[in-house]
Amino acid sequence: MTFYSPVITNAAEVAGSEKLHLLRYVEDPDQHKVEKFEEHGGYRALKKVLGGMPPEKVIEEVRNSGLRGRGGAGFPAGVKWGFVPKDSPQPRYLCCNADESEPGTCKDRVIMERDPHAIIEGMAIAAYAIGCHLMFIYIRGEFGHCIERMEKATEEAYARGHLGRNIYDSGYDLDMIVHSGGGAYICGEETALLNSIEGERGMSRIRPPFPAIEGLYGCPTIVNNVETLSAVPHIINRGADWYKTMGTEKSTGSKIFSLSGHVNRPGNYEVELGFPLRHLIYDPAYGGGILGGRKLKGVIPGGSSTPFLTPEMIDVNLDYESLAEAGSMLGSGAVIVFNEDTCIVWAILKLIHFYRHESCGKCTPCREGTAWLEQIIRRIERGQGKPGDIEHIEEICDNILGRTVCPLGDAAVMPIQSAIKLWRDEWQYHVDNKKCLVKSEFALR
Ligand SMILES: Cc1cc2nc3c(=O)[nH]c(=O)nc-3n(C[C@H](O)[C@H](O)[C@H](O)COP(=O)(O)O)c2cc1C
Ligand code: SF4
Repeated sequence: MTFYSPVITNAAEVAGSEKLHLLRYVEDPDQHKVEKFEEHGGYRALKKVLGGMPPEKVIEEVRNSGLRGRGGAGFPAGVKWGFVPKDSPQPRYLCCNADESEPGTCKDRVIMERDPHAIIEGMAIAAYAIGCHLMFIYIRGEFGHCIERMEKATEEAYARGHLGRNIYDSGYDLDMIVHSGGGAYICGEETALLNSIEGERGMSRIRPPFPAIEGLYGCPTIVNNVETLSAVPHIINRGADWYKTMGTEKSTGSKIFSLSGHVNRPGNYEVELGFPLRHLIYDPAYGGGILGGRKLKGVIPGGSSTPFLTPEMIDVNLDYESLAEAGSMLGSGAVIVFNEDTCIVWAILKLIHFYRHESCGKCTPCREGTAWLEQIIRRIERGQGKPGDIEHIEEICDNILGRTVCPLGDAAVMPIQSAIKLWRDEWQYHVDNKKCLVKSEFALR
């Protein structure tokens, strides 16, 4: 049984770089084994912190590095760790979010499959920093091979003394649980994830309180993404100042972008934040241009929950600020490319079907609104649209945006709103002519 996902990466470029680091060893077939990981300098950072670095110093270093959460929201990791109450008598927990269900995103699975100890080391450092003695990794249920890899790596880490009692004679104890996910997109939302670990239905919780104050079993809990935690050992080994030499002033470091859709070389590419989107799509070393030599129609730059960009908008850099300025978001870094043959109504129908299906049903605007949106968009796509349908969709979107318990509601409507704004004539053509403007395999027949 192979554990390797058939993805293209820029691992060779990363290996030759002074700075890029996350994908450095992913092409080494033995990197998932603890011996090879140690040979490549693994667990050095954990030894450094347990060898006498006070937890506050670890938090300060990560805060100074500017590392921001790679799960989607981009919240600074060190700042979040600092929210955990220092004087609480309760246990503290760390949960690594490996649910990776955002359509288009496939970066965490590569790290889990090919460099699982990098995650364990990052988790152990974060756990030590927040005073946690039991940590969890919550892995998307469908990723059976990742679960196996992480379980094996956890066993190895115990056997080599990187986890367990009195690690490296430091007096620090740490245990780790590999938890299989519930098979729902919403379980990647941090509070639904906590519910799921507790054995409850995966439903988002109302905040505040935030997990750092009241999370798993009502105790202070930090939830961080796989990629976020994997960057931590490098920051500890090489320092916050080194990390800040990559990226931009406010978006520091490197990031893995999962490039998919109509490109010649879909894959996972690690680049410094601030890398030009056009380069990622067209450069032969990365995406290699649009599949079949067709023209570009649009791009979703940060996972299916983020607004579209048109070809005129792709001269933008891949960092949090530049994408926000361009009217979209960096999100989880999943860049989905659509060529000119794509019917935008068809593409949006696929997305809203997903969000309607994945809505946890807790709040009315999301539960009802996503179902109404799917119904209307489906009839437009089938050539049964009615005058006023587009305005009706816009009205429903307005009534969902910002009015839900968790961001899934916003995530469902943002691509729809942008698709109508950017390609309104196409939507109108569908309604007026009962067929698609785009002559493609997806067009209405
Ligand atoms: C519907 C939904 C799904 C999410 N799925 C994931 C996921 O699969 N993986 C992830 O790391 N974050 C996911 N998030 C974001 C998490 O709620 C949370 O912000 C993140 O795990 C925090 O880690 P970070 O600060 O390291 O990014 C999701 C959020 C929402 C609203
Ligand atoms: S926005 Fe949707 S997924 Fe989030 S809590 Fe409300 S119903 Fe559930």
